[in-house]
Amino acid sequence: MDEARKNRKAIAAMFSSIAPYYDFLNQFLSFGQAGHWRTKLIRGADLKDKELFLDVCTGSGDIALGILKTRLDFKGNAIGIDFSAPMLNLARSRVAKLGAPYPRRAEFMMGDALDLQYMDEKFDMVSVGYGVRNFEDTSAGLREMYRVLKFGGQLNVIEFFKGSIALPPVQWFVDTVTPWVGNMITRTDAFSYLRESSNEFYTVEDFCKLLGQVGFIEIEKERMTFGIAHIIRARK
Ligand SMILES: C[S@@+](CC[C@H](N)C(=O)[O-])C[C@H]1O[C@@H](n2cnc3c(N)ncnc32)[C@H](O)[C@@H]1O
Repeated sequence: MDEARKNRKAIAAMFSSIAPYYDFLNQFLSFGQAGHWRTKLIRGADLKDKELFLDVCTGSGDIALGILKTRLDFKGNAIGIDFSAPMLNLARSRVAKLGAPYPRRAEFMMGDALDLQYMDEKFDMVSVGYGVRNFEDTSAGLREMYRVLKFGGQLNVIEFFKGSIALPPVQWFVDTVTPWVGNMITRTDAFSYLRESSNEFYTVEDFCKLLGQVGFIEIEKERMTFGIAHIIRARK
């Protein structure tokens, strides 16, 4: 992929331009599976009796708010960071609409995943949904998440990986129909980027190796719907 496309400014501008369509297209183009995958990630997050988690690349806040709304065993707070202002505005308006106690429990802040403005070992859990594939430097982003996690804390990643789709017709759909429909609706080429960035990202196995090199342990992977997405969990 053209390196300029993974430039932070270009990525932030691209996500900002598709922000109004993001949630709808996410569900529509995955036939509702994206919500199901998110629920799996949320259910498996180690949060019982914990105090604070960070949702990196939070977008419109789906993972952060999903956890606060459904994980009743978690009484703590969430911080979501993203470098796209329109995405953060969506997250902030969602939390405002939800009303008490959510605005007190969730904070959405401008921030770069490659340079997290938090002290070492601040968070009990870190999540990142469809974010790592966009990092200019994947290891640097993983090192930052490792740094801000407490020892024993869990990382939860959901992502699209290279070569992981088991069925050729599903790969064809993801490579042709998804970009065509997504680009047409958003009038951008963001969904061609989605295809290219997934097909050129790490394989699941290589990503797990990279997590190990960064220092993560107990690395587990879970395959979602024909391998379209994977949830990866690891511990510091
Ligand atoms: C595909 S969206 C995912 C949103 C949400 N996590 C979800 O699961 O639907 C990716 C988000 O990551 C953000 N992003 C990508 N690279 C980032 C970085 N280096 N720092 C902060 N945010 C980043 C984009 O602005 C975008 O909102």
